[in-house]
This record gives sequence, structure tokens and C-alpha cells, in this order.
Amino acid sequence: MNTRDTLKINAAGHLEIGGADCTELAKRFHTPLYVFDEAYIRKMMALYRDTINEEYDGHGLVLYASKAFSCKAMYEIAKQEGIGVDVVSGGELYTALSVGFPAEKIYLHGNNKLPYELREALDAKIGGIVVDAYTEADALDREAQERGMVQDVLIRVNPGVEAHTHAFVQTATPDSKFGFSAADGAALAMTRHILTKKHLRLRGFHCHIGSQIFEKQSFVLAAEKMCAFMEKVKAETGFEADTLDLGGGFGIWYTDEDAKLPVDGYKGYLSALISALKSECAARGLKKPYLLIEPGRSIVGEAGITLYTVGAIKELPGIRKYLAVDGGMFDNPRYCLYQSKYTAVLANRALEQPTERVAIAGKCCESGDLIGVDFNLPKAKEGDLIAVLSTGAYNYSMASNYNRNMIPPAVLVKDGKARYIVMPQSYEDLVRNDVVPVDLEK
Ligand code: LLP
Repeated sequence: MNTRDTLKINAAGHLEIGGADCTELAKRFHTPLYVFDEAYIRKMMALYRDTINEEYDGHGLVLYASKAFSCKAMYEIAKQEGIGVDVVSGGELYTALSVGFPAEKIYLHGNNKLPYELREALDAKIGGIVVDAYTEADALDREAQERGMVQDVLIRVNPGVEAHTHAFVQTATPDSKFGFSAADGAALAMTRHILTKKHLRLRGFHCHIGSQIFEKQSFVLAAEKMCAFMEKVKAETGFEADTLDLGGGFGIWYTDEDAKLPVDGYKGYLSALISALKSECAARGLKKPYLLIEPGRSIVGEAGITLYTVGAIKELPGIRKYLAVDGGMFDNPRYCLYQSKYTAVLANRALEQPTERVAIAGKCCESGDLIGVDFNLPKAKEGDLIAVLSTGAYNYSMASNYNRNMIPPAVLVKDGKARYIVMPQSYEDLVRNDVVPVDLEK
């Protein structure tokens, strides 16, 4: 199990999260259920916030990358912790604003922001928009002019850093739909373009080199490349960036193949990045930019687990054993998408030693609907409670109603007390937007 103090096994041999016994949670809220440890989320947000305060004179802001887990309670917690958020759609922006999130601490991303999303962002007067297309720059300038305002923007730059992670979540390799390349002049050309816009105020640049990255060196390299780019821009255009957004991407523990960092280990990532940034700026004669970082997974990933109840069990002799649970790819599509690995615990008999290797299957009508294929568990039987760990990021946010299954609710636990942050769906919710056209009713 992970080394952070999110999870414990109590005297009854039950798994606990945030002081709450998982068997009690399952009884009260039923399964499948997402459970989040509030203290862990706050600890991670505070860690990044305080590191910027202590090591960078507070000249920056942590933006929680809310695509990792977006719901009203998450924006409320981020607001209370005094950090900002990054949003990537009108829906995320709307959710943030719905809890009164301070607009100036919201940054909008996206490689194809829609016209209405740009208008909503301008109307809300958000802190920054990270421009990722010429059409977007032109539309924003026009819309800002109509509103008699000047919008702060950053440009998304592809620094060409290759991070060691799953290919699908690499975003800064030469072939990417994101950003403008620093290497081939595209980012410089976009800079010149934005500088001609009267209703856009260019503040600086953004990069994001990928996700689930453990190599500190990748982040340091990205910071170095961005500083080299900023120096070049200054020399060629006279524009000196006052903001640098270095994105997210810090890796988390899913299985023992991943590094197990103590919470403070994440301070190390940020410290390395900050010290590289400081020395690069000094060496290149650049002023110290306002630093933005956008951690998502590392804030919420290990804070969350998913509870399932074991149903059908099928042993295929010489092949494998399947434990089917009451969830599946509709609440966690990450194995299907990326062959992601997880650790599972038999939450009602957590002290028992693992004795067999099993696949955990979902209930969807699809052979590939698996949570994973190589879990080590004690012999499980129908009705046992399984906890899949580190499901806090990119599970609920990528869930669907496939097969008209209901997306599980989410509860937030603090000091043993659990409360809903996402209510259960009902069958009525599933048909809410369905319409049978009158002329179809014969
Ligand atoms: N900033 C930008 C611009 C991003 O694109 C992302 C993630 C982040 C920040 C946050 O990165 P994090 O700290 O969470 O690694 N669905 C995939 C992950 C996709 C990540 C997309 N961008 C998964 O389940 O692994």
C-alpha cells in the first residue's frame, strides 16, 4: 500500500481512508463509490503553495489542473487553500464560477477553445487565457475589443522535451496537437502575431511536457528550454515575458513499479524546478517571471480510492481468474485507454496475505472492460469489498454512462466523517435528456 498517511488498516482488519472504515462507507453509501481524503488534497495544495511562497518569494501561483477531478467541492477547497485553477472547457469554468471561485485566479486552456467558451471566459474576466491557435488569438482580440477590454494571455509553447511516460499522455514531443514549437520558429511567429493585437496583453508563455512523470530532470530541462526561448523572444522582439507557466505532470504511486514519494518529495520537484528557473533567468539576464504550475494528478490522485463489491467470479483454468465488480470502464476507463496499472486491496479483509493473482473485470458488455489483469489478492468471494487505490485523478472526470450504467457518487472524508460531494445518479438522470419525437410515436 502507499506510504502516505491516507490509508490505514484498522484493528478489525478493514481498510480505512481519512479515518473512515471502508466497510462502513460501503454500507452507508453503497458501491461502486469514489472516496476522497480531504486532508490529503489540502496537504498537497498547501505544499505547492507554501513552496512557491518560501522558495520563490510568493511570486507565483499554483493552479490546480481541475481536469483531474472537477466538481464544485474541489473548486471550493482550492479557493479556501488560496490557490488558482486551470480549466479546459466552458463546463469546468462554469463549475468553478458556480462556487464563487475568484475569476482572476482562473486560467483557460484548450487546443480548440470554442467561440462560446472564449466569450464566457472574457465575460467572467478570468486571469489568463493560454492561446493555442491563430484563429483563437484573432477571435479573442475581436471579442475583447467589443467588450472594451484587454485580456491577459499566455502562448502555449512546445519546448520539445520528451518525458518518460505513456506515449498517449506525452504532449510536448515534436508531433503534438498542442502548442507552437520553440525549435522551428512557430512560437516566435505566434508571439509576434499576439504582440500586434491591441486587445490582448501578452504576459508570457506556457508549457506542459506530459503527465505521470517522475524524472525531475525533465521538468528542469523544460524550464531551461523555456528560459532560452524567452531570451530569444526578448532579443528578437524586445518583449520580455513576466509570466511563465510550467504546467503539471508530477507522477504518483499506483503500484510498486512507481516511486513512492513522501508528500515532501513533491516539494523536491518544485524546488528543483524553481532553482533551475532562478539560475537560468540570472544567467540569461531575464527578470524573474511570475511562476505558474498546474499539478492535477499529484494533488488528487492518491487522495482517492474506488470501492467495489465483488460479484461473479470466473476461473478459466490455466488462463486467469476474473473477479467481476459492480463498476468498470464507466467509472475508470484508464486500463482500457492506457493499460494503466493499479493496486487493489480486499478492504474487508485487508490483513490477509495475497494468495492469488486475479483480473478485475467490470460489468460492461465488452471483453476489454477491465480495471486490470494482475492484482494480488487474498481469495475473494462474492460480496467482498475491493478498494482500488490511487483513483482520485482522471477516473470520475473520465467516467461515462456507457451501457447506461450510473456514474458512481463521490464522498469526501475528513476525520472519519464522510459526506457526498457528487450525488448518486438515478435512472431518471439517465433519461433526463432523452426525447421521443412526436412523429415517432405512432
Ligand atoms: N496542464 C495542462 C496543460 C495539462 O494538459 C495537464 C494534463 C495538466 C496541467 C495536469 O497534469 P497532471 O499534473 O495531472 O499530470 N487522462 C490522462 C491524463 C491526461 C493529462 C492531460 N493533461 C490519464 O488518465 O492519465
